[in-house]
Amino acid sequence: MLGPAILMGQSKHRENCLSLGLDCDRIPRHIAIIMDGNGRWAKERNESRVFGHIHGVNAVRSSVEAALELGVRHLTLYAFSTENWSRPAEEVNALMDLLVTTLVKEVESLGDKGVRLRTIGDLSALPIDCQEQLRLAEDGTKNLQSLDLILALNYSSKWELVEAIKQLMKSDIDPKDLTADDVARNLSTNQIPDPELMIRTSGEHRISNFMLWQLSYAELYFTPTLWPDFSKEHFYESVRDFQNRDRRFGGIMDANRTMSKKG
Ligand code: FPP
Repeated sequence: MLGPAILMGQSKHRENCLSLGLDCDRIPRHIAIIMDGNGRWAKERNESRVFGHIHGVNAVRSSVEAALELGVRHLTLYAFSTENWSRPAEEVNALMDLLVTTLVKEVESLGDKGVRLRTIGDLSALPIDCQEQLRLAEDGTKNLQSLDLILALNYSSKWELVEAIKQLMKSDIDPKDLTADDVARNLSTNQIPDPELMIRTSGEHRISNFMLWQLSYAELYFTPTLWPDFSKEHFYESVRDFQNRDRRFGGIMDANRTMSKKG
């Protein structure tokens, strides 16, 4: 049975969806975002790339708030890829510092809103203070249930799949019995449902080594908006677009919009 707090949350989500013209029963459970365009946003203003990342934090805040308003259960943000280490050391260090200062500043208010912070990726390569703040934030919010905010840090899909294969090769599963569920259980997103909607900002149309397995059936939404400009309204718009898609999962939709499998 659902508790009173959850029921109250659900009626608030319904009210919010109604006022935004969204269908509360078709809100994606999991939205994943490739936050792109911080550097270009800064360049347009003759500022350093780091200036763009600093302003990108506002868009993170807006997206978390919008996800909470609509009742999205999981929000994954691609914050640092395994390829991002090839950027100048000054930019990498600034990004790590920004992560630490943001966590220190925001973790309490995230907790007050019921946000559980989680991570995917190889954290062992991150600076020690960064690992420590992440551990504190993950521990301190682990029982919260309004929204899982999942930061992909030192993450890439190929890294994750190689790690999963290594685990499977050490397991006692007979290769001929191996299933897609066995693979999914060995990914860093084990127990987290696959994203139904993937948003990429800045006009690029690529997946960039992000959740390749998990995005198999996700709806992809590309917007020219640069990440620091991505507002709550942009977030709602992406969900509106999602709600206008026909999701067929390889089947066919009949006239009553019910699903039947292709033979
Ligand atoms: C991509 O834009 C952005 C990143 C690699 C970093 C994203 C980081 C943040 C939004 C700030 C910190 C995040 C958290 C969760 C506190 P880009 O630099 O590739 O932009 P460009 O393509 O215009 O050069």
